[in-house]
Amino acid sequence: MEENGRATGKDDSSLVFAINSQRFELRNLDDPSITLLQFLRSQTSFKSPKLSCGEGGCGACVVLLSKYDPELDKVEDFSVSSCLTLLCSLNGCSITTSEGLGNSKTGFHNIHKRFAGFHASQCGFCTPGMCMSFYGALVNAEKAVDDRPPSSGFSKLTAVEAEKAIASNLCRCTGYRPIADACKSFAGDIDMEDLGINTFWKKGDSVQDKMSRLPLYSPGDGVCDFPEFLKGQGKGGSLSSWIVPGNVEELQRLMKGIDHGNETRVKLVVGNTGVGYYKEEKDGCVERYIDLRYVPELKRIKMDETGIKLGAAVTISTAIKALKKENDEVYQKIAAHMEKVATSFVRNSGSIGGNLVMAQKKHFPSDIATVLLAAGSYVEVLTGEIHERLTLEEFLERAPMGSKDVLVSIEVPKWKASQIGSRLAFDTYRASPRPLGNALAHLNAAFMAEISETSEGSVMSSCRLAFGAYGTKHAIRVKNAEEFLTGKKVTPAVVYETIRLVKSTVVSAEGTSNPEYRSSLAVGFLFNFLSSFMADPFKGNASNGWLNGHSIAPDEDSEATQKSCHDGKSSLLLSSGKQVFQASKENRPVGEAIGKTGAALQASGEAVYVDDIPSPPNCLHGALVCSTKPLARVKDIGFRSNSPPDGVAALISYKDIPKDGENVGSKTMFETESLFADELTRCAGERLAFVVADSQKHADSAANLVVVDYDTESLEPPILTVEEAVKRSSFFNVPPFLQPKPVGDITRGMAEAEHRIINAEMKLESQYYFYMETQTALAIPDEDNCMVVYSSTQCPEYSGAAIAQCLGLPEHNVRVITRRVGGGFGGKAFKSLPVATACALAAHVLQRPVRTYVSRKTDMIMAGGRHPMKISYSVGFKSNGKITALKLDILINAGIALDVSPIIPVHLIGALKKYDFGALSFDIKLCKTNHSSKSAMRAPGEVQGSFIADSVMEQVASTLSLDVDSVKTVNLHSHDSLKLFYGRSCGEPHEYTLTAIWDRIARSSSFNERREMVEKFNRCNLWSKRGISRLPIVFEAGGMATPGKVSILSDGSIVVEVGGIELGQGLWTKVKQMAAFCLSSTNCKDSLLERVRVIQADSLSLIQGGITAGSTKSESSCEAIRLCCNLLVERLVPLMEKLQKETGSVRWEMLISQAYMTSVNLSASSYYVPDFATTRYLNYGAAVSEVEVNLLTGETTILRSDLVYDCGQSLNPAVDMGQIEGAFVQGIGFFMLEEYKTNSEGLVTADSTWRYKVPTIDTIPKQFNVEILSSGHHQNRVLSSKASGEPPLLLASSVHCATRAAIKDARKQLHSWGGLDSSHAMFSLAAPATMPVVKELCGLDSVESYLIWRMDHK
Ligand SMILES: Cc1cc2nc3c(=O)[nH]c(=O)nc-3n(C[C@H](O)[C@H](O)[C@H](O)COP(=O)(O)OP(=O)(O)OC[C@H]3O[C@@H](n4cnc5c(N)ncnc54)[C@H](O)[C@@H]3O)c2cc1C
Ligand code: FES
Ligand code: FES
Repeated sequence: MEENGRATGKDDSSLVFAINSQRFELRNLDDPSITLLQFLRSQTSFKSPKLSCGEGGCGACVVLLSKYDPELDKVEDFSVSSCLTLLCSLNGCSITTSEGLGNSKTGFHNIHKRFAGFHASQCGFCTPGMCMSFYGALVNAEKAVDDRPPSSGFSKLTAVEAEKAIASNLCRCTGYRPIADACKSFAGDIDMEDLGINTFWKKGDSVQDKMSRLPLYSPGDGVCDFPEFLKGQGKGGSLSSWIVPGNVEELQRLMKGIDHGNETRVKLVVGNTGVGYYKEEKDGCVERYIDLRYVPELKRIKMDETGIKLGAAVTISTAIKALKKENDEVYQKIAAHMEKVATSFVRNSGSIGGNLVMAQKKHFPSDIATVLLAAGSYVEVLTGEIHERLTLEEFLERAPMGSKDVLVSIEVPKWKASQIGSRLAFDTYRASPRPLGNALAHLNAAFMAEISETSEGSVMSSCRLAFGAYGTKHAIRVKNAEEFLTGKKVTPAVVYETIRLVKSTVVSAEGTSNPEYRSSLAVGFLFNFLSSFMADPFKGNASNGWLNGHSIAPDEDSEATQKSCHDGKSSLLLSSGKQVFQASKENRPVGEAIGKTGAALQASGEAVYVDDIPSPPNCLHGALVCSTKPLARVKDIGFRSNSPPDGVAALISYKDIPKDGENVGSKTMFETESLFADELTRCAGERLAFVVADSQKHADSAANLVVVDYDTESLEPPILTVEEAVKRSSFFNVPPFLQPKPVGDITRGMAEAEHRIINAEMKLESQYYFYMETQTALAIPDEDNCMVVYSSTQCPEYSGAAIAQCLGLPEHNVRVITRRVGGGFGGKAFKSLPVATACALAAHVLQRPVRTYVSRKTDMIMAGGRHPMKISYSVGFKSNGKITALKLDILINAGIALDVSPIIPVHLIGALKKYDFGALSFDIKLCKTNHSSKSAMRAPGEVQGSFIADSVMEQVASTLSLDVDSVKTVNLHSHDSLKLFYGRSCGEPHEYTLTAIWDRIARSSSFNERREMVEKFNRCNLWSKRGISRLPIVFEAGGMATPGKVSILSDGSIVVEVGGIELGQGLWTKVKQMAAFCLSSTNCKDSLLERVRVIQADSLSLIQGGITAGSTKSESSCEAIRLCCNLLVERLVPLMEKLQKETGSVRWEMLISQAYMTSVNLSASSYYVPDFATTRYLNYGAAVSEVEVNLLTGETTILRSDLVYDCGQSLNPAVDMGQIEGAFVQGIGFFMLEEYKTNSEGLVTADSTWRYKVPTIDTIPKQFNVEILSSGHHQNRVLSSKASGEPPLLLASSVHCATRAAIKDARKQLHSWGGLDSSHAMFSLAAPATMPVVKELCGLDSVESYLIWRMDHK
């Protein structure tokens, strides 16, 4: 077929492109399906683009792609996801990565500097991708031809555009606010006062000062000029595997030439983004690609009075631009809808045609098909010699396109009203977990209507009603409803009947999740559309007394009421945030808000994570194979075909464990866990084997080809629920020292109660860590039977011990090294161990280095995550809401292995005790089930305990018809009751800051005023309801035994080692500050901060490192360093005094060089062991959140969250602020979004970014105010500091409670329409409160109820 391929460049047989201006020329590519990311990471030194999802859903791999158009002599720049971009498609292209923008050698780019300065990088794994997404927007804004002149030092981007630029990128650490600030700092319309905490200026500095301190931006900063050598390179290259037809005729010849039976080996391609969804297409089965991007008919955009014709290869981004240019409402709406399709970096390369072909051939839940269907579009299809023009409807309905069919173009007609006196209306809708896109719709819809205004009202002359993505083969029109509506006046009765027709047609295929919810969305959207044609205020802002019991009082005409009633549609973007804190100067630099160590390096992508370490020669790569059965004998594991797949070197299983070793993959303080299942697999997700191959791609593909022969005969059924575990008495023991203690006399407490709720039940689900860097390790065999393992782990010490036990080696033979971890959240603690152990075992067996970077899917399947639980409780209380007794029965699903599950009960009860329950008793069972073992995830147990406590408050308040806030207030602890519940941890009365915080947050958030506003808003809005909630938290913490070592080198530089691991939580930064502070007591005049370097953890260099978890490893590490420094200071002070006497003031270098001369020991080690009896303390905080719920879709928008958190004397307020905000947003994920679903056998089905939705910038609070309260000194805490890593996560349940409050009002309204009975106030809201969950509680039939009620109350 090559002869048909167009000769497109000077060099016909090569692929030429540039990366960061460096020329690359490839002559042969064995595998044409290799992606740019695979190439960058395996064959270049440019490691800033990271792999996190590999499916276009996270943005970690984003790069800037630049193309030269010789006809226009113009360079086009756009961001793309390098994990989907095929390397072959890059002939003549220039790629810029974050290190190409700037780096530590040539100077960081201002984007890097601002990301660092605004504290926008924590673990840093997302940061280079964020920088590149933003950079793409910046470059294009500069190119935009418009009359906005950039003000000096700023870009042409607006603040909204700046935020939108990173709306598609995921970050699991920061909570986005600081990233948004870093981006907005470039915006021309930004008010500098609105930007948050940073290292550039202090609050109160003048605008001029601020400007002068900000790394200045000027257009073109850091832009690599498009390399001249690429300008004559032509278009597509001509590798035999990559064919670039230059016109339709060539394309036709090519298609004709495809041999029968060879169709699947040849693939038409434009952006290749489709493989993000259809991942099976990734696995190297394609031998040849036909690149459609250079066929003029397919890339042309033609506009005339009849409409717009878009070539099928036109990218979605280009189509949006073209549509937006037209002053046409239909086009504008289509463009606006398309802006929510996928992510910006997918839209930049993904084509309109690719989308429609996916919809037509594979039933992809497309948005584009739906909106274009409503707009009456046509398509042109080429089959052999035949060109066909079809309506989009015909195209979608016909049999799936053949492999030789080509979609050539799409026409969207221009619509005008057909008669004088009528008007055209068009609107599009989508309901998805993320408002700005990067999430498939639960349902999408688009409606077009022509309305004639008559004296009697609006009459529908014609209409098109299209719905899609609801679990249907393709988008459809509901023709019977269209016919019914035509010619009718839009009245409640007509709308009701139309809705009925729609509902009977928009029915999801069997097996689709939430089918009723999806149908109700169809109703909601149609109602929304049609209600705008009603003569009366039918659609929402009711201003009279339609709602029973909800009529607006006369005084509510005030301006404030109007505002609360009508400011309803808040912008989709985060608008503002405030951070308040006091930086302590006492122990400088400790207490200062200095920037995170290495943040700029993380932004430029030079920071080295495990997978960035270059592979040693001869290195192999592994991929884990996991069980899909919960309980089965494993009879055999092998490959489908007789010969192993390409590149495979071995299939390692438990049989390969050396005879002196043991089948141990993980080792906690409680138990060891097997590395691989032996004859029996005991949960879906259990590791069965490790495929080792010559590349990660080969290993991953081969792992998919492994066939496991299971046998379940004569086995008992697996235990898949906690109820079943109870039935079969399948429990783990909790050691006595970890058993929480009951409080008071429960029988008496219950007897004192005036009311009781008996056996109320609730359930809490799991949560996945979603660290951006998945599990990874590299094991290198060393001399004398030793093993060096680089692991992304929170506990190298345990990792070393597990590996040694598995290999049957003494522990001193195994060295585990961890420099930084790309996000942990508990998931890189014991769950990282089997991954490192598998690499070590394979390396030991094969005597070659072996590494793995676990795919997102496998990671999600294995991870286990947070503990799900079932809670049943009885509570007794007085009429004022004061609780007298709470009794709980809790069944915790611990999964198949113990891991650290025994800590959960004590953590749970610790956080639950935040209220004075009078008396508290519980029975907690750790259920052993055939699920993957659950592990600690940020605030393990505490988040559930705190939530349960608030749920009890909600139920008590509902039972008594009391305001829930007053019930919480009446149950807050006094210091006496606190002492009863927490013992010595509660400290002195003055340390109990919660009651002050409770009042403070009410004032700072204007809680009471806003509650009134919310009430008024709800009275005058039918289809949105707001809720507001305040809640407190108490979180018990204590130090951990931690080693440290400080050494001073001869030039005065200081090297620090600690047991704690840098996970993004700023541990190194705090440790650095502590070292600089403590060593400054030598009285030298120099600042020592910049001389301190914290180095990677090495399990043999510093033993007993323990585990970095539980929020207090930073402070414990700091304390260990303080002890080391004290020793050093003690040794240096006599010398210092002597030198001072001789020379006056003494510089640090001089002191150290003299110390070397006089053989002072300049290295000190310590092992900090806290006194567990006295150093435990309580953390306090409170939050107020306000949300708005859309009753038609169940969407919850977080309007505002205010947090006040007692950080003691913060060691670094910027770091703590980052922890507080990041934890809160992760909590939002748990309470509102993240569904870690499994199938009926316990196999995780939420195994991708498509199915698991962590918060994005559009789902965080629109206004996010955080105050760090600096409470008093305390001798037992490390420099009086408190923890910040986990406790603030608990505050996120304020969002859940506020949602519940909004739903409560929605249900009251529904009751008034007759849609609910009188028990409407008693309900429980599941967590996560996803859109379907919320909508169901607000009434799946609420529209119908309303219409019936309206018809009855004419
Ligand atoms: C993370 C992510 C999120 C997404 N979210 C959404 C969303 O919310 N809503 C939505 O509607 N879409 C969504 N998409 C789908 C996206 O729009 C498509 O992936 C994209 O438009 C496909 O275009 P492409 O050029 O990359 O196609 P390719 O990947 O190049 O091709 C896709 C398929 O179509 C075939 N093909 C392509 N062009 C033609 C042609 N002209 N004639 C015949 N066959 C052809 C290819 O052979 C292939 O089988 C998402 C995609 C990703 C990766
Ligand atoms: S790794 Fe490419 S988008 Fe996630
Ligand atoms: S800093 Fe964004 S994922 Fe860690």
